[in-house]
Amino acid sequence: MTVLYDDIGELVTNDPAAGDGSPLGVITGAALLVDGDRIAWVGPKHEAPAADRRVDCGGTSVLPGFVDSHAHLVFAGDRSAEFAARMAGRPYDGGGIASTVAATRGASNGALAANVGRLAAELHRGGVTTFETKSGYGLTTVDEQRSLELATSVTAETTFLGAHVVPPEYREDRDAYVRLVAADMLAACREHARWIDVFCDRGAFDVDEARFILTAGVDVGLVPRLHASQLGPGDGIRLAVELGAASVDHCTYATDADIDALAAGDTVATLLPGAEFSTRAPWPDARRFLDAGVTVALATDCNPGSSYTTSMGFCIAVAVRDMGFTPAEALWAATAGGARALRRDDIGVLAAGKRADLVRLDAPSYIHLAYRPGVPLVGDVVRGGVGD
Ligand code: NIG
Ligand code: FE
Repeated sequence: MTVLYDDIGELVTNDPAAGDGSPLGVITGAALLVDGDRIAWVGPKHEAPAADRRVDCGGTSVLPGFVDSHAHLVFAGDRSAEFAARMAGRPYDGGGIASTVAATRGASNGALAANVGRLAAELHRGGVTTFETKSGYGLTTVDEQRSLELATSVTAETTFLGAHVVPPEYREDRDAYVRLVAADMLAACREHARWIDVFCDRGAFDVDEARFILTAGVDVGLVPRLHASQLGPGDGIRLAVELGAASVDHCTYATDADIDALAAGDTVATLLPGAEFSTRAPWPDARRFLDAGVTVALATDCNPGSSYTTSMGFCIAVAVRDMGFTPAEALWAATAGGARALRRDDIGVLAAGKRADLVRLDAPSYIHLAYRPGVPLVGDVVRGGVGD
């Protein structure tokens, strides 16, 4: 069964060999042929091949589906009061994570699954066709394992984050918790995870603890990614590069030495505008990363504490308005950049042979994502060739 998406006003391919030759590879007046779950052809609409079915895009914009490479969907509870207190001046220090841990431990599998399903559906409605999600609100072997089992029901991109924070019952013996994460917890979680992550920051885990846990994960076949420099400068970004991590996320307080290390390595820097927005943190200047040649991704960081949004459109708008991205750079980071952060070469690009994951906007241009903030512009979402 082939489907031709025809009369696309502006097709963003992220294939520099296509269209206008820019990184977005924009083709004006385009068509795209899907065969099963793959793209079979893209090009000018007047050269479009025949198909079993034709969808008229009416001159609107079509993009690769968003790739959200950083989310925390497995949790219970609500922290709106904490958010309100922050907006009244209380600083964010990650201390609220403990309240989500308590709620998550107390929640039934059914309640957790319902929340994960609701958030996955929100992501999908907002144009996200691939997302990562992690454990990190269980912090016991049993609760981390069940968090990852639930995560695998909604995505293949699952991350073991037993080292999110030291849970209250280990506060007097953090070394014992670090050993637990790197031994029994990892052993129980590894078969349900592709990635291993550590929150390497002030009040969470230091660089030696992070190295120990990530190395244990690598030894059993997981691939590292890190949360680093969200709450203050530190050594986490350079550790990510040293370990060849796929991505280092937040980077709010990245130093010049961190940017130099990123530019010399192949770790993606994933910026999370929702976190700066919701914690009133300073905006990282994306120009420092982009102008140094660092590969940058944008992701939601959807979680109940620091960034309770599933909207990549919102993240793009904020990234453009406050972090120095051009609209083109922000769109690339939210699609191809996310794919790089997940080490995926089958998504994030609309070209023959790639997965048929695409979004049709109710707008003539992707620029409207930042130009019309907060407006639900995602018209149709096609995932693996299947539309809504
Ligand atoms: O990515 N930084 C650590 N973890 C989350 C926040 C967790 C929370 O506040 O519940 C983040 O921002
Ligand atoms: Fe996070």
